[in-house]
Amino acid sequence: MATHSLGRSEFGNPANAGNTLSTTEANELLNDWVKNDRLRLHMHQVAHLMKSWAKEKESLDEKEQWKWELAGLLHDADWDQWPDDHCRLIIEELEKRNVDPEVIHAIASHGPGYFGVEPVSKMDKMLYAFDELSGFLHAYSLMRPNGYEGIEVKGVLKRMKDKSFAANVSREDIRDAAARSGISMEELIGFAIIHQTKFAAQN
Ligand SMILES: [Fe+2]
Repeated sequence: MATHSLGRSEFGNPANAGNTLSTTEANELLNDWVKNDRLRLHMHQVAHLMKSWAKEKESLDEKEQWKWELAGLLHDADWDQWPDDHCRLIIEELEKRNVDPEVIHAIASHGPGYFGVEPVSKMDKMLYAFDELSGFLHAYSLMRPNGYEGIEVKGVLKRMKDKSFAANVSREDIRDAAARSGISMEELIGFAIIHQTKFAAQN
């Protein structure tokens, strides 16, 4: 990935805690910045996983769920058009729009090996955990005759060992992210299967 360390660890203004974008604003930004359909789908998938996790596993209220969803929705917003400036541009944009620092920090830390920012909060860790895993799962669904239908955890794990399959998805990042989240790979994959399958059925 042609990315650079962000060179800082503080993001956004604490005075903006609780501020988000409206759904319309977030979708407009996404559609303006990201022209690649596959990438847009990826961002929506990750957003759906983030929202579902916040709701089901963290029992967060709707306002908090939207923060998690928003971080997922916009985490790769600048990757399509400005890969060399990923994810500096989206961070600066969200800072300009006075978005809650927690959302911005989650985006800034979704690739610690690339951006030099450590995931700290649960939101940070889950975004990192779902990012590559979601992409891998989608790639796996595309090579199956029935898509997402009937995908099992053990099948995903087995396919992960095949280095030639979806070679651009870093297994090391998937493992590192799972370890940092403190959640087993089996649970993460199981959760992603359920919710990504639901998402595919609705879209
Ligand atoms: Fe991503």
